Amino acid sequence: ETIYLSDYSPFGFVVDEVTLTFDLHPENTRVKSRTAFRPNPAATDRTFFLHGENLKLINASIDGTPVAPDVSDKGLTCDVPDGPFIWESEVEIDPQGNTALEGLYMSNGMYCTQCEAEGFRKITYYPDRPDVMSVFTVIINGPHPVLLSNGNPVASSEGHAEWHDPWPKPAYLFALVAGELIAHADTFTTASGRKVDLNLYVRPGDEGKCAFGMQALKDSMKWDEEVYGRKYDLDLFNIVAVDDFNMGAMENKGLNIFNSSAVLASPETSTDMNFERIEAIIAHEYFHNWTGNRITCRDWFQLCLKEGLTVYRDSQFTSDMRSAAVKRIGDVIDLRGRQFAEDQGPLAHPVRPESFQEINNFYTATVYEKGAEVIGMLKRLVGDDAYATALDLYFERHDGDAATIEDWLKVFEDTTGRDLTQFKRWYSQAGTPRLKVIEDWADDTLTLTFTQHTPPSAATPEPQPLVIPISVGLIGPIGDEVAETRVLEMTEASQSFTFDGLAARPVASILRGFSAPVVLDHDLNDTERALLLAHDTDPFNRWEAGRTLARKSLLSMIREGTAPDRAYLDGILAVLRDETLDPAYRALMMGLPSQSDLATALHDAGEVPEPDLIYAATETMRAAMARRFRDVLPALYADNLVTAEYRPDAEQSGKRALANSALALITRTDGGVQAQAQYGAADNMTQQLSGLANLIRADRGSAALKAFEAQWKNDRLVMDKWFGLQVIEADPEDAADVAAALTDHPDFNWKNPNRFRAVFGSLVMHHAGFHHHSGKGYQLLADWLIKLDPVNPQTTARMCSAFQSWPRYDDDRKALITAELDRILAQPTLSRDVTEMLTRIRKA
Ligand code: ARG
Ligand code: ZN
Repeated sequence: ETIYLSDYSPFGFVVDEVTLTFDLHPENTRVKSRTAFRPNPAATDRTFFLHGENLKLINASIDGTPVAPDVSDKGLTCDVPDGPFIWESEVEIDPQGNTALEGLYMSNGMYCTQCEAEGFRKITYYPDRPDVMSVFTVIINGPHPVLLSNGNPVASSEGHAEWHDPWPKPAYLFALVAGELIAHADTFTTASGRKVDLNLYVRPGDEGKCAFGMQALKDSMKWDEEVYGRKYDLDLFNIVAVDDFNMGAMENKGLNIFNSSAVLASPETSTDMNFERIEAIIAHEYFHNWTGNRITCRDWFQLCLKEGLTVYRDSQFTSDMRSAAVKRIGDVIDLRGRQFAEDQGPLAHPVRPESFQEINNFYTATVYEKGAEVIGMLKRLVGDDAYATALDLYFERHDGDAATIEDWLKVFEDTTGRDLTQFKRWYSQAGTPRLKVIEDWADDTLTLTFTQHTPPSAATPEPQPLVIPISVGLIGPIGDEVAETRVLEMTEASQSFTFDGLAARPVASILRGFSAPVVLDHDLNDTERALLLAHDTDPFNRWEAGRTLARKSLLSMIREGTAPDRAYLDGILAVLRDETLDPAYRALMMGLPSQSDLATALHDAGEVPEPDLIYAATETMRAAMARRFRDVLPALYADNLVTAEYRPDAEQSGKRALANSALALITRTDGGVQAQAQYGAADNMTQQLSGLANLIRADRGSAALKAFEAQWKNDRLVMDKWFGLQVIEADPEDAADVAAALTDHPDFNWKNPNRFRAVFGSLVMHHAGFHHHSGKGYQLLADWLIKLDPVNPQTTARMCSAFQSWPRYDDDRKALITAELDRILAQPTLSRDVTEMLTRIRKA
């Protein structure tokens, strides 16, 4: 069954308040609900339908009189009075048997919930839609020391707790947690003097991994006050870490629930990248309190309203806390790797989709990351001050609303006087636009002529021209900036812009800061690119010049077997020698485009990518880098190997990133001697893990792998790294076999999403290993997707996207992949989640 945006209509009733009573029991929890309904004056359809799935209805009544509703596997209907009435029901649910991790479930003996998007209907009968907002009271009975729900505690005694959340909210923001948990406590005082109690609840044993997350929370609260003027609105804010969780984390009102991998951190067990990700996710969930909770979504088609904006906000936060340039480059690498791949394949959909079967399948890179890019473009077009004014109006006008993208754009139209009709196409059109630029130089004037073209897709057969903010600066022949950044506003299919009064022909630095999520086609020669690599004042485009040289060189190595490009290697060497440059930035400069990005580039050029050739070219390039940078590597390594007490901040982690990039090249020539030394001396996970990775690459990892396992066998999050690393670092020939062997390991708890992803997410990321010509990678993944689907459809469906790129490969691989897709699709009972994903993928 397909749901359409155009079919939206409001619910026939308003819910003023609801009281839920939970009697907790692992296999048969009883849930009583008492809900006050009244007719919705804004609605015409008065059908009384309550969602409900996997519920055993014990009894129901209206105004105290027992009723016998019509129950289906989707919910129930019932005759109701004309005016206001009280609905009461009691249901039984089975948290222990809930392996899908949606609704109320158990994880290592603790109860927890995940309701977004449509999990609340697995807890009780209720209008489970985001535009129905209500005040919740929650009573929990159970023999657990900690019993939590949203809002403020109003009563508690042994085995009993009562919670009240004064802020009306949709059911997807409901949460409940119960178990033997320990609080890491702190406080934050808001700018208006409200003292907020903060707790990070963890399982016994994890107390030592809380301090960083707590600090990140306090930093986020302060930042949102300072930058967006958003204060926290309850006396209590709780975060709970759970080991079994389908996604990263969830912004339930006053009770955020986190995948333990997204909140628990310590120097010994977490890498610098883990720390940065945790800080960003804590901020993201906290920021949802305003962009998501106080202002929520009218329906799930508007998901990007809260997710795009909140991702944008958390990226601003990280830019302020760390290095803005490094954050931007990292985000673009991620966008190209995940969102462009999605947008250019069979799963392409607009930032605001117009139809879906299973909404969980639309928590995508397009909704989140492209959704955030659209907000960045809007800000660039209107300017920082106008953006701030528009946001103030948004919070004022829509506080308490379940809003739409139209509402969002309207505040910008009302505050700036702009007509955003054309800009809105960014929300409704799928596909990554191609932006081609042609230069003309005459009479001291540079003319840039841009042409935009979005390839048609099933989702958007006839794309129209978009509004594209193009940030441009000009670099003179000796490397001086002759024109500062200017934002060109492109609205036509083809459009020219001129820069006059120039003394000499400059090199145009186009799409600075990656000012729009497009593929830029700018035909610079290698000398011009080398000039940008050496002198561009825009850190993103300076990095981009190096990346483009790398991509061009790798593509010609793949196509023609040429040698690695000298100019590229020399340019990067100069950057590495430049001690004025931030180490983190230099580390990024040492990166290469990923192998799947190279496959995309070949496909884009009308060619068929051969994974083995792409792998070989990348290896050859790395070897050439090791040789060309040989003289600087030992010093780069030694100068940046931090020996001071570990801090996960931008400065130290940037240095470790540079030292580790150097180590990866050193290992190619020293056979792993330095890696062994680093592994042995490491007192933090960043250095220990990179030591281990390099030992595996040097073919001397087996002893260290055993030692690592013995050291960390009781730490699930570290063991996830151990599982994943062996797959990532395997030779292409062996990656699928290594993954298969790991599934026989006694600690391969495949029902735990983190562990499943550690093995199979890593296999999928190993481009040449997953696409091994035998098809063994495809077959192994398909076997396990078939096994996981009945247990956890949501995680299975997410993993199906591994197959989305199949149409670009050769006929043999295409046949192998489609055979696996068809084998999965032929399973007698397949979840709606996986059916929708594979049907969309297969259609390509
Ligand atoms: N709203 C959460 C976040 O972005 C994601 C929860 C998604 N959950 C799901 N089952 N689709 O922070
Ligand atoms: Zn979010």
